[in-house]
Amino acid sequence: MQNILITGGAGFIGSHVVRLFVKTYPGSTIVNIDNLTYAGNLLNLKDVEQESNYRFIKGDIADRDQVFPLFEKYGFDTVLHLAAESHVDRSIANPMAFVHTNVLGTVNLLNATRHLWKGQYQGKRFYHVSTDEVYGSLGEEGLFTETTAYDPRSPYSASKASSDHFVRAYHHTYGLPVVISNCSNNYGPNQFPEKLIPLFINNIIHKKPLPVYGKGENVRDWLYVEEHAEALDLVLRKGKVGETYNIGGHNEWKNIDLVRLLCKIMDKKLGRAPGTSEGLVTYVRDRAGHDLRYAIDASKLQNELGWKPSLKFEEGLDKTADWYLSNEEWLRQVTSGDYLHYYREQYQDR
Ligand code: NAD
Ligand code: TYD
Repeated sequence: MQNILITGGAGFIGSHVVRLFVKTYPGSTIVNIDNLTYAGNLLNLKDVEQESNYRFIKGDIADRDQVFPLFEKYGFDTVLHLAAESHVDRSIANPMAFVHTNVLGTVNLLNATRHLWKGQYQGKRFYHVSTDEVYGSLGEEGLFTETTAYDPRSPYSASKASSDHFVRAYHHTYGLPVVISNCSNNYGPNQFPEKLIPLFINNIIHKKPLPVYGKGENVRDWLYVEEHAEALDLVLRKGKVGETYNIGGHNEWKNIDLVRLLCKIMDKKLGRAPGTSEGLVTYVRDRAGHDLRYAIDASKLQNELGWKPSLKFEEGLDKTADWYLSNEEWLRQVTSGDYLHYYREQYQDR
């Protein structure tokens, strides 16, 4: 890997991937294209921005006039595609933004890659980072495997499913050397405080209500973001062309149980009496079409490439809480401005 393009590198997972790659591959050039939506933040990459093997380009992945010249200039041999609109609630409010970035953006990148590589695929890789949400929703039993039929049920997951299909179609039709992974819910430092864990940490800090959707009985499978970044690096290097790998945390939590654990951790760290934060829990109107349960069978990745997560959830959550508490300036910056408008719109009638 000489010239690596990472898309969406200023976002939550992308920034951890950029950091890992800049440090792990000092002899490679790592180019990060990101158009810095509300979710993209260059503060996430402060510690790597001066590295000589790192470049940042502000650009829209769906814009042909920005993307094609970039591919010509750097001659990428590796594309690691993370840029996306990623929040289910926003997709319910505004599906078109998800079609633009997740579908059109992905196809534009595939076209640019095809145009640059011109059928010369030796040593080349297009890695598409996707989500377990494309598989739909599970009942109490069962796990998503790589052969589970797609059944996306939110505009977000429908747009990711569509992008996955295009990536596979470019492999089958044009022979493009692709690999895809579908991962479960990530958590950790630098996640925008619209997603469950950072939103609730921020609200606990400010003693604001904790809006639990429905009865809090939905289940998610949580993976620490740095472990996901390591898995992505492994799959990129060792994954077989044309294959899909599920990545998961073996770590299912009912939302309300997770929230109770988080409240306990935060009370301790903030020196508040036990039970203080749990008192902020407020049950609100459920998310439309709320998927009941996601859970990943990641045995293919373990058996073929020897990867499995190792960090205990309690420890990961503790580290995450510490990060937000010692980065209150980051939190303050990302929760000012447009965020306040989003928050009012999203939660006012619940
Ligand atoms: P994020 O929302 O934190 O970051 C997305 C980044 O993409 C932002 O920096 C944003 O500015 C950038 N971006 C958005 N539209 C763009 C465009 N048109 N052009 C260029 N850049 C654009 O998302 P995340 O949570 O870091 O997720 C990264 C990827 O991982 C996504 O593809 C997502 O579907 C996938 N994923 C996320 C999770 C999760 O739990 N967060 C789980 C599985 C898979
Ligand atoms: P989220 O972090 O948005 O991830 P996803 O919907 O992609 O799984 O939500 C995780 C779970 O938490 C999901 O079941 C919805 C729920 N949730 C709440 O109960 N309240 C909230 O304010 C948010 C943002 C999410």
